[in-house]
Amino acid sequence: MTEHIQFKRHRRLRSSASMRTMVRETHLHVEDFIYPIFVIEGENIKNEVPSMPAVYQFSLDRLMEEVTEAYELGIRSLMFFGVVTDKDEVGSGAYAEDGIVQRATKMVKEKYPDILVVADTCLCEYTSHGHCGVIHGEDVDNDKSLELLAKTAVSQAKAGADIIAPSNMMDGFVAVIRKALDKAGYTHIPIMSYAVKYASSFYGPFRDAADSTPQFGDRKTYQMDPANRLEAIREAQSDVEEGADFLMVKPALSYLDIIRDVRNEFNLPVVAYNVSGEYAMVKAASQNGWIDEDKLVIEMLTSMKRAGADIILTYFAKDVAKTLSNQ
Ligand code: PBG
Repeated sequence: MTEHIQFKRHRRLRSSASMRTMVRETHLHVEDFIYPIFVIEGENIKNEVPSMPAVYQFSLDRLMEEVTEAYELGIRSLMFFGVVTDKDEVGSGAYAEDGIVQRATKMVKEKYPDILVVADTCLCEYTSHGHCGVIHGEDVDNDKSLELLAKTAVSQAKAGADIIAPSNMMDGFVAVIRKALDKAGYTHIPIMSYAVKYASSFYGPFRDAADSTPQFGDRKTYQMDPANRLEAIREAQSDVEEGADFLMVKPALSYLDIIRDVRNEFNLPVVAYNVSGEYAMVKAASQNGWIDEDKLVIEMLTSMKRAGADIILTYFAKDVAKTLSNQ
């Protein structure tokens, strides 16, 4: 019936698992992942975050349980978020020498020098008002915040952080942090800029986990409008000019077009942040038995790499490492 009709036989390359593997264009590796961990003040704490099943807040005396598990699964990059009760107007906990993230960093680098600690440089977990900088009137004061963010970055580098990842969305943060790091002798420490960070509803579960919900207003005067695409290029462009070594796009799943734009425009490593709300949606559907979680997570993270990400920050890192090692 089809003998006189011309068409392509695309199915030839899908005929068996081995054939499909041979022609697969995008691969996930455990080396692609940065695994975020919440560290909380106190002792003997391993609290599950209600909106993020299987994600916990760990006190420092229990942190190594989690780090060792991740290490044994092949994960070599971590990010810590501090959960503290002692907060103030200027977020001094973020740059305290004995701050919780600084202590976690030291501890982990001592036991596992080959783990890369990526430091999230922001104030919102440490400010009483929950904003990412210093408040002036009803808004965040850009330039005053920069000074404190630079101090935070230097204290993180001093504690042993391998990469500084500023997530605060103040203008000029890369320039100011680069200068402060260089002046303090950390010319070799790279900056992974959260260059393109949207004011997103996908951060809700994180704010529960890190107790960092703004006490008034929202973050729309510093984080980007989700409707904007060209603005992402402008943001990334200025960070490249200011000296960023990596460019991050956040969130990931609803922003795959932006990941692709950034990949096409710049030649720095691109990082996608698979954020808390993306994690929570998958977990909720999975708990209801509505989706196959393992398969869906692989598909989702593969789509981020296919869009152009080289590196993925994800709460699923351990799960994917397990799935990949069983394949
Ligand atoms: C700090 C910060 C946030 C996240 C990472 N760093 C919260 C925010 O901007 O409100 C969110 C991460 C996630 O949702 O997983 N500014």
